[in-house]
Amino acid sequence: MADCNIVVLISGSGSNLQALIDSIAQDSNPARIAAVISNRADAYGLVRAQNAGIPTRVLDHRQFDGREAFDAALIEAIDGFDPQLVVLAGFMRILTPGFVNHYTGRLLNIHPSLLPKYKGLHTHQRALEAGDSEHGCSVHFVTEELDGGPLVVQAVLPVLPGDTVESLAQRVHQQEHRIYPLAVRWFAEGRLRLGAQGAMLDGKLLPASGHLIRT
Ligand code: GRF
Repeated sequence: MADCNIVVLISGSGSNLQALIDSIAQDSNPARIAAVISNRADAYGLVRAQNAGIPTRVLDHRQFDGREAFDAALIEAIDGFDPQLVVLAGFMRILTPGFVNHYTGRLLNIHPSLLPKYKGLHTHQRALEAGDSEHGCSVHFVTEELDGGPLVVQAVLPVLPGDTVESLAQRVHQQEHRIYPLAVRWFAEGRLRLGAQGAMLDGKLLPASGHLIRT
């Protein structure tokens, strides 16, 4: 199977990036991370990439005159690596419609909630405050609506008595490290595609929730 070139965008710790690096090191995974790009020079994920021998670039959004100019430069940097897939892994920037549309069907994001619940920030706190019995994380194709594109896979976990934001965040993070490599592998193997009606796995439309994994 031909390799699937991937560019990963990060802003911080890059633990999801690390999970991808580790999963790709396994046999017969056609995914290949061609580059990691960060908007922050101090993102620890850049060290993780360098340790794995992956080329890195830093594009500091503060050095651009507005969102459009930054996103145009970002597109140029990404496309220099000729990726089939772009993976947002804790990239803390709102992307312009121009950027999102340029990568339609080849842009994935991970979000720490059971979308469509809790788009945006402070998801663990919001799940606790609402008294939810379940929480989790979601991988989705990116569309113009923030955290709103077709779902690919969700990991669902119980909220336990005595859970805090920290304990919940930690368990959700563990599941992120499981479902993001899975979704990326599906894409790299040609099994996952964005169809007109939503995300398709092995030629079949996934349910609106995406593929569900209960823990
Ligand atoms: C994750 O919680 C992810 O869901 C969100 O940003 C965080 C990134 O964490 N989009 P890391 O940098 O991968 O550790």
